[in-house]
Amino acid sequence: MTIMSVLQLYGSPIILGFPQFLVALVITVIATATPQDDFAIVRENVLKIMLWPTPDQLPATLAQAAANLSILDLNTCQWPDLNYTTRGPENWDPVLHMFRISTMTAALTVPGGMTNDTALSSAIHCALEVWLEQDWQNPNWWWNYIQDPLIATGIMLMLGVERMSPAEIGAIIAMSYRADWWIKDWGGGANLVWELQIQLYRGLATSNYSAERLNAIFRQRILCLTCREMEMQNIRRPGIAVRCREQL
Ligand SMILES: *[C@@H]1O[C@H](CO)[C@@H](O)[C@H](O)[C@H]1NC(C)=O
Ligand SMILES: *[C@@H]1O[C@H](CO)[C@@H](O)[C@H](O)[C@H]1NC(C)=O
Ligand SMILES: *[C@@H]1O[C@H](CO)[C@@H](O)[C@H](O)[C@H]1NC(C)=O
Ligand SMILES: *[C@@H]1O[C@H](CO)[C@@H](O)[C@H](O)[C@H]1NC(C)=O
Repeated sequence: MTIMSVLQLYGSPIILGFPQFLVALVITVIATATPQDDFAIVRENVLKIMLWPTPDQLPATLAQAAANLSILDLNTCQWPDLNYTTRGPENWDPVLHMFRISTMTAALTVPGGMTNDTALSSAIHCALEVWLEQDWQNPNWWWNYIQDPLIATGIMLMLGVERMSPAEIGAIIAMSYRADWWIKDWGGGANLVWELQIQLYRGLATSNYSAERLNAIFRQRILCLTCREMEMQNIRRPGIAVRCREQL
């Protein structure tokens, strides 16, 4: 059975909830990304579907980015309203610093956004530098190993490595390796999907297509995960269970 027929069996990604949607997307990426030349197309699709605001969300994102920019302290490249020493499960202000950079980066890079805004661009780099230097850690591993690298690799993919310094790129690649699903050996579930998503962003941003790795992901993990999630979601269609077992 081909990859695309798996997708067709499961139907349009639009009807699938998270994380099935992500899984379907990763499968699509793997199905289409074989030659290096396809990177641009896949990158564009991932940006549109997963990172940039939709046309509906665009005005709100631009307003948020402008508001975030206006209150950034340009001397420290930190936000005075955030308490950077908080480390609680409910109040961890450093992650707001990261989200704000992500929002500003989306506003800078989305088509129809604040494309040539040099003040926004330099604020992004300055705030990013502070984050990468400080590398704030939360007592809860999830933030350090999943949430932070997810935001950071998303920023790298949106910004594009050609607009980043080697130090920025190196720090984000290093952070991405915290999401080392191949060592943790998740049985499935959302943490695995997030870690795959982080590696997908890293691979697309740095044009690092490792066919071996992605194929291994696809064969050993993604499809098993998909089948299991599908069964859990109880949206099996006739024949699916049999096909799942064939793939496992
Ligand atoms: C900054 O952007 C965030 C989204 O990351 C938004 O929720 C928030 O309202 C903005 N904050 C300020 C103070 O402008
Ligand atoms: C910042 O957070 C720390 C830790 O929660 C707290 O002890 C401190 O009082 C806070 N500072 C301000 C100015 O709110
Ligand atoms: C941004 O700047 C480039 C180069 O000066 C120019 O070609 C482009 O039209 C500008 N884009 C926008 C949206 O202003
Ligand atoms: C490309 O990705 C692979 C797999 O994660 C990694 O082992 C390798 O070091 C990466 N190459 C570069 C140049 O970053």
